[in-house]
Amino acid sequence: MPTPLKQKFTLSHLREARAAGRKIPMLTCYDFTTARLMQEAGVPALLVGDSAANVILGHSSTLPVSLQFMIEITAAVRRGAPLAFLVADMPFGSYQASVAQGVRNVCRMVKRTSCDCVKLEVTSHHVPLVRALAAAGVPVMPHLGLRPQSVGLLGGYKYQGRTADEAAAIVALALQMQDAGAVAILLEAVPPEVANAVVERTTLPIIGCGAGPGCHSCVIVTHDGIGLTPTRPKFVPSLAELAAPFREAVAKYVRDVSSGAYPAAQHQYTMTPPERAKLKRWTNKEDLS
Ligand code: KIV
Repeated sequence: MPTPLKQKFTLSHLREARAAGRKIPMLTCYDFTTARLMQEAGVPALLVGDSAANVILGHSSTLPVSLQFMIEITAAVRRGAPLAFLVADMPFGSYQASVAQGVRNVCRMVKRTSCDCVKLEVTSHHVPLVRALAAAGVPVMPHLGLRPQSVGLLGGYKYQGRTADEAAAIVALALQMQDAGAVAILLEAVPPEVANAVVERTTLPIIGCGAGPGCHSCVIVTHDGIGLTPTRPKFVPSLAELAAPFREAVAKYVRDVSSGAYPAAQHQYTMTPPERAKLKRWTNKEDLS
């Protein structure tokens, strides 16, 4: 039986979990209803990822999704899961132009959604932005390793930190982010050795996404885990196969409407017999006229 969240999960709880060696499950979420179910299932941390561009909007990359769309769906998730630690993803183009643009758009996201933290895909060029956001009081989670918003520059969705030099660069960037005031780090698609090096050298909670078992938390794209996307990445567990039952439920509706089996008597509203008789008299008169 799921154990629903009973109290607000905060950054302090995330830090305590790191200290105590307790692993924190995190899932992506993009709408009110799913957020409500996730809170009922006891998911302490939710990420409204820009993967919404893929799984909600059907784009082939995360680049096209707009800030306004991310704000709308993050606010919906907040309404569905008020107790979860809610991380909002800042989409491509919303923070790359300047520190001022990044601060303005992050403040917009925070004010309109009541998220608990914002996530940005970073290089060392983003140190001043992370520092400015921390100074403004915003909890920031830099995203390192595979950064899907830079897919063109990275030459595809390839795992990162393949060489010792690349691994050292990821650790150095994590330390820069920590020094700039980040509250946690998300590490995507790196070998476990790289994640372990980041875990050992930093003091922040490290959220892994295809980064092995050494991280303090794990996040996956929910649609991959429950079998709604056509292919499941290697690092994602198979939690359920929901595409087939969903398709079958919808196909049953198609059959029932087509055959006339739906709507049946139990799906219909009722009229009192006197009103029904009155209506019949009236329609008959109409028929005669
Ligand atoms: O957008 C997203 O869902 C993400 C996760 C894959 C980490 O950034």
